[in-house]
Amino acid sequence: MTNSLPHPRRETVEANLISVLQERTSLSASTAAASSSWMRAEPRDLPSTSSGTDATMCGAMSALVGELVDSIDRADPSQAGHASRVSALSTMLGSSIGMGVKELRALRVAALLHDVGKILVPTEILSKNGPLTSSETVEMRRHVVYGGAILSRIPVLAFAASTARWHHERWDGLGYPDRLVGHAIPLYARIVAVADALDAMTSVRAYSPAISLAEAYEELESESGAQFDPLIVSAVGPLVGASGFQDSWISLVSHMKSMPIAA
Ligand SMILES: [Fe+2]
Repeated sequence: MTNSLPHPRRETVEANLISVLQERTSLSASTAAASSSWMRAEPRDLPSTSSGTDATMCGAMSALVGELVDSIDRADPSQAGHASRVSALSTMLGSSIGMGVKELRALRVAALLHDVGKILVPTEILSKNGPLTSSETVEMRRHVVYGGAILSRIPVLAFAASTARWHHERWDGLGYPDRLVGHAIPLYARIVAVADALDAMTSVRAYSPAISLAEAYEELESESGAQFDPLIVSAVGPLVGASGFQDSWISLVSHMKSMPIAA
């Protein structure tokens, strides 16, 4: 995750972030204060993850990430649960390609927060019951820029900023916002792109009915090397082909909800 992250509209996002979090989420006073102080803090000021403050940080991280995920679901209720399903599936894919525990922990959080920028997209666009106009589509697509900017300003979540910004990039360079190509797209973002698409295709959406897992996998395969990283698509087949995959996925989602998030 070494890509440098540009920050267009950073000042605007930063200036509005705390008030938006408080207005559009149910952040408790203590969590809002914690996130606020994290945003102001320099990384050197933060407690070490190996210090005696681990339990406190772990609880605070779990609360902050949980509140942000809830706020994403509230901002776009038609997609409620999407972040949790993408997170669970991403960790399964990460595990399939050989990621270690530490990376899987980070991937879990990055995937949970991939659409966090939607909390800054106007509600009328998120909840519009009809096709988006071209200007609305432009604004909707900005969720990746907003998400990257939000997370880059929260030191303990800054590692997740690249996934938020680049999860709509395409392997062939035709994605957005930066048209990154191939391995220039960070690995977490390439994994989340596949998990995001699989969940989207197998969930009922405003203008498209859910399709079966087998059909969704066929779609992924047809986009392997075009929209998606072939390595990640190749990891999907054995997963979805295993009997009981859907039950395993759902049960991992519910299991992960009770797992604390490590700082
Ligand atoms: Fe997205």
